[in-house]
Amino acid sequence: MYNYNTFDESKVEFIAVATVDEIPNGERLFIDIDRQPVVVFNIAGQYFAIADVCSHDDGPVGEGELHGYEINCPRHGAAFDVRSGKVLSLPAIVDIPAYPVRVVDGEVLVGMPIE
Ligand code: FES
Repeated sequence: MYNYNTFDESKVEFIAVATVDEIPNGERLFIDIDRQPVVVFNIAGQYFAIADVCSHDDGPVGEGELHGYEINCPRHGAAFDVRSGKVLSLPAIVDIPAYPVRVVDGEVLVGMPIE
C-alpha cells in the first residue's frame, strides 16, 4: 500500500493511539501526542493521520467536513488532502503534517517524528 505521508518512516517513532475498534470506518479520533494535536481518520478501512492545526490560522482542521480524502477547515474553508497534508485550496498556502499510520495486532500506531 502506497503511503503519501510527509515523513521518512525511518525518522519516526510509532506510538499506539487506539485499537482498530475505537476508530470504525468513517470515524475519526482526536488525540494529543507529545502535546501535538493529531486527528486520525478511518476512510474505507485505511487510516490517515494529520496535525489538527490548520496552516492558515491554527484552526481545528480535523473537525472539518470530509469529502473523499479532502478535508475543509471549519474556520475559513481551506482544503487539505488527509493522505499527504497537501494544501488544496486557499486561504491556506502551506501544507500540514501528515503522519504515517500502521496497524499492528489490532492497534493503530501513528509515526511521530523523532526530535
Ligand atoms: S484557520 Fe483554517 S482556513 Fe483559516
